[in-house]
Amino acid sequence: MSDVDLRHLLSQMTFEEKIGQLMQYNTHLFTDSTAEITGPLTDLGLDEAMLPFVGSVLNFEDAAQMRAIQQAHLQQDRLKIPMLFMMDVIHGYRTVFPIPLALSGSFDPELVRDCSAMAAKEAAASGVHVTFTPMVDLSRDARWGRVMEGGGEDPLLTAVMGVAQVQGFQGDDLRDTDRIAACVKHFAAYGAPEAGRDYYAVELSERLLRERYFPAYRACIEAGAPMVMASFNTLNGIPAVANEWLMNDILRGEWGFDGVVISDYDAVEELCVHGVAADKKDAAKQAMRCGCDIEMCSAAYASHLKELTQEGVLTTEQIDAAVLRVLMLKDRLGLFEDPYRGASTQKEQAVCLSPAHRALARKAAQESAVLLKNNGVLPLSEDVQTVAVIGPFADSRDLLGAWSLRGDTSEGVTVSEGLAARLPHARILTAPACSNLCGNTDQSGFEAALTAAENADAVVLCLGEPSDYSGEGSSRATLDLPGAQLTLAREVIRVNPRTAVVLFGGRPLALTELDAVAPAILHMWFPGHEGGNAVASLLLGDENPSGKLAMSFPKTVGQCPLSYDRLMSGRPIQASQEDTFLKFRSNYIDSGNLPLYPFGYGLSYSRFEYESLTLDRRTLTADGTLTVTVTVFNNSDRHGKEVVQLYMRDLVASVARPVQQLIAFDKIALAPFERKSVSFTVREEMLRFVDARNHLVSEAGEFEVSTGYADHLLLTERFSLQ
Ligand code: GLC
Repeated sequence: MSDVDLRHLLSQMTFEEKIGQLMQYNTHLFTDSTAEITGPLTDLGLDEAMLPFVGSVLNFEDAAQMRAIQQAHLQQDRLKIPMLFMMDVIHGYRTVFPIPLALSGSFDPELVRDCSAMAAKEAAASGVHVTFTPMVDLSRDARWGRVMEGGGEDPLLTAVMGVAQVQGFQGDDLRDTDRIAACVKHFAAYGAPEAGRDYYAVELSERLLRERYFPAYRACIEAGAPMVMASFNTLNGIPAVANEWLMNDILRGEWGFDGVVISDYDAVEELCVHGVAADKKDAAKQAMRCGCDIEMCSAAYASHLKELTQEGVLTTEQIDAAVLRVLMLKDRLGLFEDPYRGASTQKEQAVCLSPAHRALARKAAQESAVLLKNNGVLPLSEDVQTVAVIGPFADSRDLLGAWSLRGDTSEGVTVSEGLAARLPHARILTAPACSNLCGNTDQSGFEAALTAAENADAVVLCLGEPSDYSGEGSSRATLDLPGAQLTLAREVIRVNPRTAVVLFGGRPLALTELDAVAPAILHMWFPGHEGGNAVASLLLGDENPSGKLAMSFPKTVGQCPLSYDRLMSGRPIQASQEDTFLKFRSNYIDSGNLPLYPFGYGLSYSRFEYESLTLDRRTLTADGTLTVTVTVFNNSDRHGKEVVQLYMRDLVASVARPVQQLIAFDKIALAPFERKSVSFTVREEMLRFVDARNHLVSEAGEFEVSTGYADHLLLTERFSLQ
C-alpha cells in the first residue's frame, strides 16, 4: 500500500478500530485450539466488545493456530486489517543455537547473521512477523539473569552483534517471507539495575548513557530495526514508557526513530506500581504522550484512550500517528497483500530442524565455546577406551537456555550421547552424581560417580546452573556453582586427574575454587540442540576452541558490577599487586580487583604468538586514518582461529577515560605454523567520548593502541591525535 492508501485506511477507521491497533494480547490467555478468543478478559478489565479489534498477538503454537487466529480475525474485522504476530525468537526458533551471550563470544558477526537468518526462516514458516530481538542491554553485573540474552559488557561488541541480528532477521526486504522484523530492546539500560536485581532501578548519568549504553540501541535502529521495546525499569527515577526525555527527546527526537514503540509486558500499567501514575487512565496518558504505540498485554489503552481523547487530554493526532506507524509496519511486511505470509504446517515441517539448520547450530556451539583452562588434559586421545561422563549435565537435555520458547529439549543431543556417537568403540560411563540446584547438597550419588571416575581413562565432568537460573526474573545474590558440585569436582579430580570440566550456564559464575582444582575447563554456555555433539568435537580436538568471553568472570560476587573498561582511580593498584592488600588504595581487603577470567579471554589448542604491532604513522588527524598492523604466528601443528583484538587508551582527556577500550577485532584462521598480519584502520571517530557537557568529542593528545585481551595487553604503541 502507498502512504496515501494507508492514510485513507486510517480515515475510514472508527475510534475503537484505531485503539485495537494499539493493543496486544498473549494468545495463550485468550485462545483455545479453535482460535476462539475466550480468555479471562475480566482479568484485564477489558470490554469484550474491544476484542474483535485486537491488532497484534504475542505467542502462539504453530502455523495452524496462527492461520486460524488470523482467519477468524479477518472474518470479523470490517476493514480486514491483518494482525501482527510477535514472539521472542531470541536464539533460534525450533532449531536452537547458543544463547546470545555465548554467540557474542564467537566474535563472528557473520555467524550471528547466519543464525538469525535461520531463526527467521523457521519462525516465518510458523507465521511469526516480529521477533523481540536483539536485546542489546549492556550489562556488567553477572547477578542479573538476563545477561544471557545480550551481547555482554562491551559497547562495540554488543552493537556489532545486535546489528548482525537485525540484518540476519530482516535481510534486505521485509516482504521476503523468509524474513521477520526485529525489535531492539529493552530501551533503555535495563541491564544496569542496582543490586543486579531484575526489573529494578537504573541510575546512570546522561554522560555514561550516551557514551556506553545508548550506542548499541542506536546502531540497531540505524541498521533498520522497525520496532523498539520500552523497558520495565526506571531510568533515573522515571520508567521508560513514561520517560519523556528518553522516548521523545532522545529516541524520537535526536535519533529520529519513526518506527513502532511497544511497551514491555504490562509496563504501562506498572507505572501505577512504580508510583508515577495515579491510575491506569493516568498511565495510558503518560505512555501515549511518550510515543508508546502498542501496549503489550495490559489494558490501559483499551480502557482509557477513548475518554482521554474525548476529554482533550490526548489528541486524535497522537492516536492517529501511533496507529499509522503500526499500519506502516504491517504494510512493510506485506500483510495487506498476504496476511499469512506463506506460513503453513507443510513449510514448518520442511524448514524447521533441517539437517542444514542443525549443522549451523552445531557450528555456532563450537565457535561460541570458551576454553578457560587446559593443563594438557585436552584434547582427549582418540584411543580413549573408557570415558566417565559425570555430573548433573552429563545426561541432561537442559542445554537450550532460558529463551528457547519453541525449542524442544527432547530434540537435543546430550553430552553422553555426543560422546557415544563420536567414540563408538569406547565405553561411556554416565553418573549424574548430584543436583545442580542451590541448597541441594545431597551427595548420595557421589559413590557411583567416583567408581566411574576410577575406572575411566578420562573424565568429562559436566557442571553448571540450570537454564532457569538465568534469563528473565532470575537474578542471583551469589555466583557459586549450585549445590554440591564443587565438592564433587574436588572428589572426582582427586580420584582421576585426567578430568576435563565442561560448564553450562547463562551467566559468569565465580569459579575461583573450581579453577584451583580443575585441570581443564571448557565453557559451553547453553549451546542449543547440538550441544552434545559440539562438546564431543571440541573435547576430541576435531574442532579447536576459538570463543572468547564477552563478559568478565569475577573472582567473587562482591566485585559485581565488573567490566574491563574501568577507570583508573586516583589510588590504583598495579596488576602485580592484585593479591596483596594495600591500605588507602582502591582495592579489597579480601579479594583482588581483577576478574578471574577477563573480557576477550579464551584459550586454544593452538599456540598463538603475537609477534608485532606496528603503526604506519605516529600522528592521526581529524580527517585522516592510521593503520595498525598486528602479526600473529600459530606456533603449533593445529589449525586454529584467533580473535585479534585492538584496544585503545586515551591517556589524558577532560573526562577520565577507561584504562582500555575495544575499538576493533577480527577473527582469523591460522594453519599450522602460519603467520598472518591483520591491519586495522583507526579513525578519529573511534577515539570519541562524551564530555562533561554530554557532547560527543575527541580531544587532541596521546593515545595507546594495544593487542591481546583485556588486562593482558601484549603489545602496545603510542600515537597522537592532532
Ligand atoms: C518479557 C520480556 C521481554 C519479552 C516480552 C514478551 O517480559 O521482558 O524481553 O520480549 O516480555 O515475551
